[in-house]
Amino acid sequence: MKVCIVGASGKLGQYMVQHCLDRGYEVVGVCRSKSVDKLDRLKDRITVFSGATNDRELIRNAVEGCEGVLTVLVPWGVQQYSSGTAQAVMDFAEPGARLIFSCGWHISMDGKDVYSWKFKAFFKFFDAIGKFFRMVELNDQVEACKRIFESDLQWTVVRGSDLEEGESEGLPVWSKHIGDPILRSNLTRRTDFALFMVAAIENNDLIHQAPAIVGCQTPSALEHTQKA
Ligand SMILES: NC(=O)c1ccc[n+]([C@@H]2O[C@H](COP(=O)([O-])OP(=O)(O)OC[C@H]3O[C@@H](n4cnc5c(N)ncnc54)[C@H](OP(=O)(O)O)[C@@H]3O)[C@@H](O)[C@H]2O)c1
Repeated sequence: MKVCIVGASGKLGQYMVQHCLDRGYEVVGVCRSKSVDKLDRLKDRITVFSGATNDRELIRNAVEGCEGVLTVLVPWGVQQYSSGTAQAVMDFAEPGARLIFSCGWHISMDGKDVYSWKFKAFFKFFDAIGKFFRMVELNDQVEACKRIFESDLQWTVVRGSDLEEGESEGLPVWSKHIGDPILRSNLTRRTDFALFMVAAIENNDLIHQAPAIVGCQTPSALEHTQKA
């Protein structure tokens, strides 16, 4: 299987590269030119395309022949970076390719998610500060996901909880809606977020779903998977 990872140089991206290589996939990575050296230790094992991930020509070349495309939707920057990246991936991916996108819990597919006041307050604060310093464009991640949800391609949008570093605990568990008790712990190891993204390529049950994930060893996951 040949897989393209858009945003390969970031923390999530590097974990995804490693999981793909562990599975024997051929990997193409896309990352900003200034970040290419972050992939130095992997450069003999993957093909790297450097440039902005919303550069349509770059994406067209990178996704050619790929059966899976894993895209990190980044909230950084204020030039429609997320939506431009998502659009390019959707426009140029091979017909039938599995398209997996990452985002946070703030994205809602059907409006049925229930958020705590703490989550909403943090989101508002982060959004306001980000806009003030012209660093963050959370609404563009929302726009990117809206376009994905409206498309009939083979997509999955993986919604990550708060993240931490550390050894893998195994494949996260997931639920359809924020507010579901299984998600209460709101914590996932970043390497396991990446594992879920990579595993989604071969999980057709996740097509047209926006799973919200949480670590499989967290208290809420243990409590509610045992009951299930
Ligand atoms: N952090 C969290 O707590 C959290 C929680 C839930 C979900 N998520 C989701 O997880 C995914 C990965 O996030 P992460 O926090 O783990 O970070 P990450 O993997 O380190 O990814 C950050 C990405 O953003 C790129 N980037 C950074 N600054 C940029 C800029 N100014 N313009 C364009 N691109 C820029 C980085 O590229 P370079 O390598 O070129 O710098 C990298 O690909 C995202 O989809 C995020 O929404 C994160």
